[in-house]
Amino acid sequence: MNIEDVQTRLTKLKARITELSNAYYTKDAPLVEDSEYDQLYRELEELEAEHPELVTNDSPTQKVGGEVLSDFSKVTHDVPMLSMGDVFSLEELEEFDQRMQKNIGNKTDYNVELKIDGLALSLVYENGKLVQGSTRGDGVIGEDVTANIMTITDIPKELSEPLTLEVRGECYMPKTSFGKLNDERENEGLATFANPRNAAAGSLRQLDPAVTKKRNLSTFIYTLVNADDFEVSTQEEAIEFMKKLGFHTNPSSKTINDIAEIENYIELYQEKRDSLEYGIDGIVLKINDLALQQELGNTVKVPRWEIAYKFPPERSETIIKDIEWTIGRTGVLTPTAVMDPVQLAGTTVSRATLHNEEMIKDKDIRIGDTVLLHKAGDIIPEVSKVVIAKRPEGLEEAPIPTNCPYCDSELVHLEDEVALRCINPKCPAQIKEGLAHFASRNAMNIDGLGPRIVEQLFQKEMIKDVSDLYKLTFDDLSQLEGFKEKSINNLLTAINNTKNNSLEKLLYGLGIRHVGAKAAKLLAERFKDIDTLMNASKKEVADINTIGETIADSLHAYFSNIEVQTLITELKDVNVNMSYTGSTTINSNNEHFSGKTIVITGTLANYKRKELAEQLEELGAKITGSVTKNTDLLIAGEKAGSKLDKAKSLDVAIINEKMLDGYLSDTQSID
Ligand code: IVH
Repeated sequence: MNIEDVQTRLTKLKARITELSNAYYTKDAPLVEDSEYDQLYRELEELEAEHPELVTNDSPTQKVGGEVLSDFSKVTHDVPMLSMGDVFSLEELEEFDQRMQKNIGNKTDYNVELKIDGLALSLVYENGKLVQGSTRGDGVIGEDVTANIMTITDIPKELSEPLTLEVRGECYMPKTSFGKLNDERENEGLATFANPRNAAAGSLRQLDPAVTKKRNLSTFIYTLVNADDFEVSTQEEAIEFMKKLGFHTNPSSKTINDIAEIENYIELYQEKRDSLEYGIDGIVLKINDLALQQELGNTVKVPRWEIAYKFPPERSETIIKDIEWTIGRTGVLTPTAVMDPVQLAGTTVSRATLHNEEMIKDKDIRIGDTVLLHKAGDIIPEVSKVVIAKRPEGLEEAPIPTNCPYCDSELVHLEDEVALRCINPKCPAQIKEGLAHFASRNAMNIDGLGPRIVEQLFQKEMIKDVSDLYKLTFDDLSQLEGFKEKSINNLLTAINNTKNNSLEKLLYGLGIRHVGAKAAKLLAERFKDIDTLMNASKKEVADINTIGETIADSLHAYFSNIEVQTLITELKDVNVNMSYTGSTTINSNNEHFSGKTIVITGTLANYKRKELAEQLEELGAKITGSVTKNTDLLIAGEKAGSKLDKAKSLDVAIINEKMLDGYLSDTQSID
């Protein structure tokens, strides 16, 4: 390559890597597989190494990655949160070992552990109390996510000893929680997350801590930042020390002296990988001796004394037989590749979501193509790429539907959505999905009314909307396949029983966009019956803690629809209960406030002092006006004055408004 070609290639690489890294770190929505990113990054590093004069400050190799989102306040990491060098083969790993031995002059111990596929987190403790949690951001400036990390159960809020320290680790979403979350999101008509890492990042960077709490995040802590302050001289001891203080550390941590043994370790975990409850993408190797680590120091970007070995992505080859387009109850059409069954990372795979039309076009996937598959975030089968060399001649581009395969109405893209949607409210496929949702467990919970029976009832034109379910007769049901007297009576009783359900079941069952089971419960508790809710202003709805404007707008639009109003009247006519019958959350429990003597001071942006006091009293707190040695907690808003000083001098626990948000979201209803 002549110098101009190198320049052109560098510019291209830098632009593409920046784009990919933004999508990954900032938007939590990766555009390509990690290994593809790694390859481009490698190419950039190698070109830059050959032409150091062409390295520019804005090159991704000169930055740690991640941009600081403006929605959060910023935190400066006194000790920068660096990135880590990586290798992709055992030979390179051996080279790393040789380099270390040469630098140290001896063989050395390594502490090895799994590389968790999550996002890095810093936790700061003062006198044993958790005071701050932040993300890595660009390595020097991260985002303050204190209120959110307060909701993560395996992060100790108080250490077993009153120490002042900072630890770092990885925040991740367990695979099962990830599966549930995506199912729920699909039910609510929301976009699903591409993999558990993105789901974890998206969940941690939430402005509403209550959302983070629901997401069930976990952590593995692996770095003790100020180890010098304690009697800890190796990484192994640091892990033990952190474990004793109450942190969750990964059980894979092991000290190994011999590179051959490390290779066995790699093999072992490559086998175990699929059975772990969390995603991993390799192993991390650290020089065990902390003094040696310090001696070796860091390059601009990465510590010299540690390296990640990245597992090669598991891939399988198969042939695309068909592309199916299915519709959800919100009208979104999703393409699925139907393939010859193939073994991939521990399971047999015959279907893979293609997400949307853009992905089909981007990867140019055609029916009849041979493709390579991988699992995104260790779980979701995805098409990596087409094996063009194996494409039969004359293969046509995959057809993208222009009309709904179920009702034939024209498909549209709403606003700037990539998704194709059918917006016909009478589309039978959407109605069927909606009916099945209405009957589902978290909604009205009609025992025995699964999608197959819904399909039959619909085909025989016995139901066209949910109110018709309550008009079904013995004679109607006797026409269903395999339905005898007993099953008919059981279903009729099951349907009839749901007339007494509390309002939130109905609200969730109606399938209003963005209204999940939790929001439905809050709405039912607050407004008590459907008429009051239908007449409530957007502001009254949005004012409910954790509800917000998206849900308020969606409810408003839903209840303004004349067909919805008719449906509600019909449901009333068949005696479906429209009121909240559960107990209210007054009966609730919150470990942070119950039985505590609390003082509130300073200006709070989102709480009225009097209302907050009442709310805390309901949670069992005693609110007083001045700070004394009997005060358990000071809630300090902006411009807090003498009370804050006094609380500090008496060593009273202090929280700010963000932490208050987090603490309040820990409230559990015990009804
Ligand atoms: S050690 C200098 N140990 O991988 C920062 N990192 O690709 C390295 N990671 O930023 C800290 N598992 O977020 C370390 N067992 C582990 C890890 C781990 C995952 C992440 C970490 C780091 C990234 C680099």
